[in-house]
Amino acid sequence: MADSNPNAHRLWIQEALNLQLAEPDERTLGQRLYDALRGGIQQDRFPPGSALPSSRQLASELGIGRNTVLGAIDRLIAEGFLVSRPGAGVFVANWQWEPRQRPAVQATPPVALSRRGERLLDFATAAPSAQYTAFAPGVPALDRFPRERWQRLLRRHQQRAPVDWFDYRNEGGVSALREALCDYLRLSRSVRCQPEQILITQGAQQGFELIARLLADAGDNVWLEEPGYGGAQACFASAGLTLQPVTVDDEGLNVASLPAGTPPPKLIYVTPSHQYPCGATLPLSRRTALLGLARQHGAWIIEDDYDSEFRYTSAPIASLQGLMDNAPVIYVGTFSKVLYPGLRLGYLVLPPSLVATFQRVNARLHREGQYVAQAALADFIDEGHFSRHVARMRKCYRSRQTALRRALAPAVARGLELSSGHAGMHLVAYLASHEMEDELVRRGQQAGLRLSPLSGYYLRAPGRPGLVLGYAGATEAEIEHAGRWLSDTWLALA
Ligand SMILES: Cc1ncc(COP(=O)(O)O)c(C=O)c1O
Repeated sequence: MADSNPNAHRLWIQEALNLQLAEPDERTLGQRLYDALRGGIQQDRFPPGSALPSSRQLASELGIGRNTVLGAIDRLIAEGFLVSRPGAGVFVANWQWEPRQRPAVQATPPVALSRRGERLLDFATAAPSAQYTAFAPGVPALDRFPRERWQRLLRRHQQRAPVDWFDYRNEGGVSALREALCDYLRLSRSVRCQPEQILITQGAQQGFELIARLLADAGDNVWLEEPGYGGAQACFASAGLTLQPVTVDDEGLNVASLPAGTPPPKLIYVTPSHQYPCGATLPLSRRTALLGLARQHGAWIIEDDYDSEFRYTSAPIASLQGLMDNAPVIYVGTFSKVLYPGLRLGYLVLPPSLVATFQRVNARLHREGQYVAQAALADFIDEGHFSRHVARMRKCYRSRQTALRRALAPAVARGLELSSGHAGMHLVAYLASHEMEDELVRRGQQAGLRLSPLSGYYLRAPGRPGLVLGYAGATEAEIEHAGRWLSDTWLALA
């Protein structure tokens, strides 16, 4: 409160006084006003610098004489709790000798969570505090986002926004964005769709949640990649689904590795273009087999295409959804990687039979919104800024990856194994033991580096030891610095 506009406090102070003076009390009105103001100031509810409502306004709102109000205020001025600035008004004084400190938020005793809540906490490990962004997986180059252009587009649409964009709406998102996206997906991802099939969400995460809630019941099986994306695991767990990990090998999801008798899936979650986090591309033979398997079980495939714009050695791979007509696939996309995660915009490409249901339920559960940002994004795509940004970022990430490889070269020469890095925003460094993984994470934390252990991406312990090394979100210099630290530390431990 102390850091915000002092004039904004006028209204809050008035409302606090209205409440307090509404209670029946034996004291005189003047005394009560004096006590309420002094109590508010001493307990820091009315912080120094806050402007008081005018005496005229206080008198009229509280229904007491103006002289009574002035009497209470004069007393507080004389005592040093208030100061009068002629021409400006009366303000709470900086009356304390000691510099003010916000009271620390008290750690409350543990609260009993639901079983689901306890389970979700397992998927939401607190990020260790870190000084540097180097190695944070999934963070794009926030320093390279064309902010000014984006601001201009936002301003354009803020000014033009029809008033019904401020209302509750239920149409799947701004139509211009769905059209722009549809062209982009058809051309660059071979997705088979019409704009009406696209539902704009607040990120991929919301898409997974909707799918889990609408297409599976508690206890149904979802097959997912092992190791895999924790955000999707959390969504499916929170919907009460049974998580069936499926081993990932050099070619991605390997359903043939499942033992006979594994219960059939209702949902199959997969990152076929660029397996998260190990980076494999699902070959055509496995794609067609997966589509056949989904058909056979009446299951839906969730195709998470989170970062396929960033391929460095070959053209982007066509989507699984576009392999055949009426594929049992829901394609999930996000702008978190191509633009920035705080934007909270993603989308689903739904089979026509699911569109109306998803739109209705999304509007009920989550509401639609961010129409101005959606319209700005449509222009960003249509005017070519999107593809230029992607091209620039592809180059930038390639250089950042090269910087990381250069820094890690001494360790690689001594046997540190790295993933291929033909795409994406991170590399995986495979380690010889879990002890090594723990020790590197511990030492990283001491050095202000956030290292993500690969074993944490597994549902079944102990998982393969390694580190997921994001390189997109930090400058080349930062990446080299962090990479040299990792190389030296690995060499010392190895
Ligand atoms: C595999 C994967 N899918 C999807 C997402 C994006 O999620 P959202 O759009 O909710 O930010 C991420 C982000 O970290 C991811 O790593």
